[in-house]
Amino acid sequence: TGYVTYDPGYKNTGATKSAITFLDGEEGILRYRGYPIEQLAEKSTFLEVAYLLIYGSLPTQAEFDAFRYDVTQHSLVHEDIRKILDGFPSSAHPMGILASIVCSLTAFYPKSIAPELSKEELNLNIVRLIAKLPTIAAWSYKNSVGHPFVYPRNELDYTSNFLYMMFSYPTEQYEQNPVVVSALNKLLILHADHEQNCSTSTVRLVGSANASLYGSVSAGVNALWGPLHGGANQEVIEMLEEIERDGGDTSKFIAKAKDKNDSFRLMGFGHRVYKNFDPRAKIIKKAADEVLQALGKQDSPLLKIAQELEQAALTDQYFIERKLYPNVDFYSGIIYKALGIPTEMFTVLFAMGRLPGWIAQWKELRENKEPIGRPRQIYTGETERDYVAMGERA
Ligand code: CMC
Repeated sequence: TGYVTYDPGYKNTGATKSAITFLDGEEGILRYRGYPIEQLAEKSTFLEVAYLLIYGSLPTQAEFDAFRYDVTQHSLVHEDIRKILDGFPSSAHPMGILASIVCSLTAFYPKSIAPELSKEELNLNIVRLIAKLPTIAAWSYKNSVGHPFVYPRNELDYTSNFLYMMFSYPTEQYEQNPVVVSALNKLLILHADHEQNCSTSTVRLVGSANASLYGSVSAGVNALWGPLHGGANQEVIEMLEEIERDGGDTSKFIAKAKDKNDSFRLMGFGHRVYKNFDPRAKIIKKAADEVLQALGKQDSPLLKIAQELEQAALTDQYFIERKLYPNVDFYSGIIYKALGIPTEMFTVLFAMGRLPGWIAQWKELRENKEPIGRPRQIYTGETERDYVAMGERA
């Protein structure tokens, strides 16, 4: 059957060619379609970055206006989706709800199975998903707190509209407090793509079977939920809160993380590909300082604990040897918390941010006519043996 390379976790396998995101883990470089992440985080908006990732270039004003208009046309979800939401217990995690509802879109829009789609139909599915995700995300939260669902207000920009559906602030409040909108916008941009990470590879693998975009993205949401992936942002804040409750002694938790008999890991530290620093973490750390300052929350005890952990980890031999630096999730939770986002929604925000990346990668897979994904294995089981009747088994 030929030679099979054993590469657990695909640490050294280039599974695809891609023209979307460039990442250099040694140098800490991240670019979307050639544009440095630092410039996009500073100057762009999330919707513009979504367009860039999906269609390959920054939009002209006319292209952007048309894209934004299309997105506003699809931000409502089918009323029957409310019935599905009603069936979830209020204790349901919003990520579970998000994955289920995104998957349910295959039922509402059956013309989404990949090979039969025209370019226009494919675009319609893309726009639908970008437009509906904030509504579904906000409603998954509303469901968990038993509040009435808030319908989108399309005169608001993408990020403000999401905040409105979450919190129903008077709309003027966004203009008065651009810090909140701009911080969230920045976080979404920083999460928008990250080449072949676990959830994106999942989206591509499912998509490679010619499955629908909704089904593929729903699988990506589930992968992202895992605590070693996007779920880490919720775990980080829960860890910081636990340290605070425990009296704030960070050295105790560092010792636990280093103990090989203890499964505890310092959440928000380490990365499969960044071995010197995570460029997103640098931007987020600065943004966290600015946001806390602007909101008058600079004395947050959680921030202090985070800074202590970072400092200790950066000077401790264990972390230095293993090149474990704070990753994107380490400071994002502190910002989300300062913005009033409930902890259970942190990973949902990651999913909202990652959506254009998933879509762009799924689209690229189709355009490049990639074959179905089908990894091989190294078999380690029994050699051939004969069936034994039940009465004769030991
Ligand atoms: N705390 C303590 N030790 C760690 C940590 C940590 N956070 N991360 C890795 N190590 C140790 C690990 O025990 C191993 O030690 P040894 O060589 O002695 O056995 C060594 O470092 C290498 O770790 P690994 O698990 O083989 O590395 P990996 O590339 O498979 O995993 C990772 C990368 C991100 C899953 C891992 O660093 C981790 O679990 N971090 C905590 C979770 C986290 O923050 N995840 C978010 C990642 S960034 C955003 C995203 O991808 O969604």
